[in-house]
Amino acid sequence: ERPKHYNEIFEIHNELLIRSKQDLFANTGRHALEYMLKRGFDRQILDEFDIGYFPQNFDISFLRKKYSKNSLAATGLFYEYSGRLNFKFAGRLSFPIKDTMGNVIAFSGRALKDDVKPKYINSPTTDIFEKRKFLYNMDGARSEMKKEKTGIVVEGYIDVMRCSQAGIKNTVSPMGTSFTKEQAALLKRYCDDVILVFDGDFAGKKAAYRSLETFIDINFFPQVVFLPEEDDPDSLIKEKGVSAFLEKLESRKDLFVTYINNLSKYADSYQKKLKIIERIKSLLIKVKNPYLKDEYFAQTAKIFDLNEETLRKDIEFSSHKNT
Ligand code: GTP
Ligand code: MN
Ligand code: MN
Ligand code: MN
Ligand code: MN
Repeated sequence: ERPKHYNEIFEIHNELLIRSKQDLFANTGRHALEYMLKRGFDRQILDEFDIGYFPQNFDISFLRKKYSKNSLAATGLFYEYSGRLNFKFAGRLSFPIKDTMGNVIAFSGRALKDDVKPKYINSPTTDIFEKRKFLYNMDGARSEMKKEKTGIVVEGYIDVMRCSQAGIKNTVSPMGTSFTKEQAALLKRYCDDVILVFDGDFAGKKAAYRSLETFIDINFFPQVVFLPEEDDPDSLIKEKGVSAFLEKLESRKDLFVTYINNLSKYADSYQKKLKIIERIKSLLIKVKNPYLKDEYFAQTAKIFDLNEETLRKDIEFSSHKNT
């Protein structure tokens, strides 16, 4: 059953999209346009991604005339202050978030100055938007994903746009949250392989490893690329060119094997080693494909210098215990 105001919520998002695009290219949005041009984005890509600008003193009377206060409130885009509705994204660059069909279902707004916190503001959960269920640019990336049978996952909206401008169109991003099983399942519908290219910082690595179990749970095995510490896909492509990025993609490795290798660095005592093996076992148990499972067994045994047969028996024992 459709929630009340359902169609109006879509309509309001659309009206805001149109208005924000007009304002980006008008005098009001001059500094916002300037900001994006300076970052090296061209007008065509701004148009393609429907990037817009919401002015500081954004006047929402054009919406108030057409829509009830309840409908406007249901979009999650406004907050009430002394009896009046105010727009949450005023003074920000607009990144429309769309469903797989291309309907605008939410907004993200980026501050134009680096000292403004938070850097991005997102729509809250509404009747039409739950951020765990969507990926940014899924609508734009899906046909290329099907063709290439591969999807690329990056951290940020800007990374997606940079890749797209450089001709890499099969790129999506989660919206600042850790990767969810709904998002993994969505990707699996469109591609056979997925490559994670998160930021090179510690947070990016952590995010990649944290997503592993989510993928394993749906029998999907991503590959991963780690960028230099100070880079994200946007900065790498901008500074070193798309060829440097493509070279990085070529060096991708299986995420599970990479994770096992990474954990082995912490196995500096026998106790720690056993603890880490328990962690790996809990993931190995979930791998359904027998050939892949064999491969991960072999890798684990090799990396941790274990007897493969002992590991295998141990895991068989554990999985019976758990089912
Ligand atoms: P730029 O700084 O413009 O290059 O963006 P970025 O994508 O590199 O930012 P960052 O690596 O910090 O964050 C990656 C993604 O996390 C962003 O694209 C957002 O989706 C999300 N994110 C970052 N900062 C915030 C924030 O302050 N609030 C929210 N809600 N999301 C954020
Ligand atoms: Mn950040
Ligand atoms: Mn980051
Ligand atoms: Mn980043
Ligand atoms: Mn960035």
